[in-house]
Amino acid sequence: MANTDPIHVGVLFSRAGITSRVEYSQWLGTDFAIHEINAAGGIDGRELVATHLDPECLPQNYRSMAEKLVQDERIRVIFGCYMSSTRKAVMPVVEKWQRLLMYPTLYEGFEYSPNIIYTGAAPNQNNAQLADYMTRHFGRRVYLVGSDYIYPYESNRIMSDFILERPGGAKVAERYVRLDANERDFSSIVRDIKDKQPDFIFSTVVGRGTRLLYEAYADAGLDPARMPIASLTTCEAEVSEMAPHAATGHITAAPYFQTVDSALNRQCLERFRTLYGDVIEPNMCWEAAYFQVHLFAQAMQRSGSDDLERLLPHLLGSELDAPQGRVRIDPASHHTRLYPRIGRVGEDGRFVILAESAVGVDADPYLVHHATNEWSIRNVALGDVDA
Ligand code: ACM
Repeated sequence: MANTDPIHVGVLFSRAGITSRVEYSQWLGTDFAIHEINAAGGIDGRELVATHLDPECLPQNYRSMAEKLVQDERIRVIFGCYMSSTRKAVMPVVEKWQRLLMYPTLYEGFEYSPNIIYTGAAPNQNNAQLADYMTRHFGRRVYLVGSDYIYPYESNRIMSDFILERPGGAKVAERYVRLDANERDFSSIVRDIKDKQPDFIFSTVVGRGTRLLYEAYADAGLDPARMPIASLTTCEAEVSEMAPHAATGHITAAPYFQTVDSALNRQCLERFRTLYGDVIEPNMCWEAAYFQVHLFAQAMQRSGSDDLERLLPHLLGSELDAPQGRVRIDPASHHTRLYPRIGRVGEDGRFVILAESAVGVDADPYLVHHATNEWSIRNVALGDVDA
């Protein structure tokens, strides 16, 4: 008789805490994919069932909840994590128990785990293109501001390298704020920005602080057309939290925006909105959370098992038509081929896509080919629409 047992998976995205807005969108992206898979008959007739826990954005909770999913619930595959500090908390758990984490968030690179699949952008898929775009259109003097944890330190180091290796490149300042920074913290930073007059600001602020930074910038009367904030983390989820117009004119590099111009993307957004309404704004982290569940289901269908040894060979090298374009998991790096894009926030809070890669770009998480000129020529055919 055919096996009709449900397939249980774990989900670790937060509903409360600093980055809960974007993590809620990741949970709904995951839920949406699970809904689609089950509506189409499940995986060979087996229903996909998620156990969703809320770690409240605290790394120690991600670790203990991953232990709980693996040991108490006997779950073999976990979808989850936004902040790199939370991924690093789950990594030893999946490595110890031979389980799999699928991680749908851009991050700082310089990592490989045999037990993680990375479906968000590595620095050669967003940071390199942002450095290229900003230095060509605005200048080479950058002011770095980030939240106080590992991703911003590392992402700022990489951005600094990309800027400083260009003639005239300069780091004007590098400042960090607590994850729970308040209005006063950001007004002091914006005063400093006003004094120092960089060509652009690179923000690695995450979660709730993002709104405060952009609103403090707008309140100070600074002009995004002349000195914009450029970011890899400010997506539609954060923009939707801001006062109207606080985000307008600022720039983000990401493999996906809602405005990606394809029938597949438009249909996917329509199906999502029919089911979930507008409780969240779809964004790059939502999209990665969505397509990685479909990649898992496809591999699971081929392997017939979620046991890592049987599943992984079918996941590695697998491809899927995602809303951003056709993605592929690289067997060597466990990272994903993605489509770098540069977007600027328009009056309506949607990103206008200013430049995009004509081809998928494989991740190079250790930046083996560390030369920005080489990036743009070798990997990326960025369009050149003026900012
Ligand atoms: C991040 O912490 N990877 C955004």
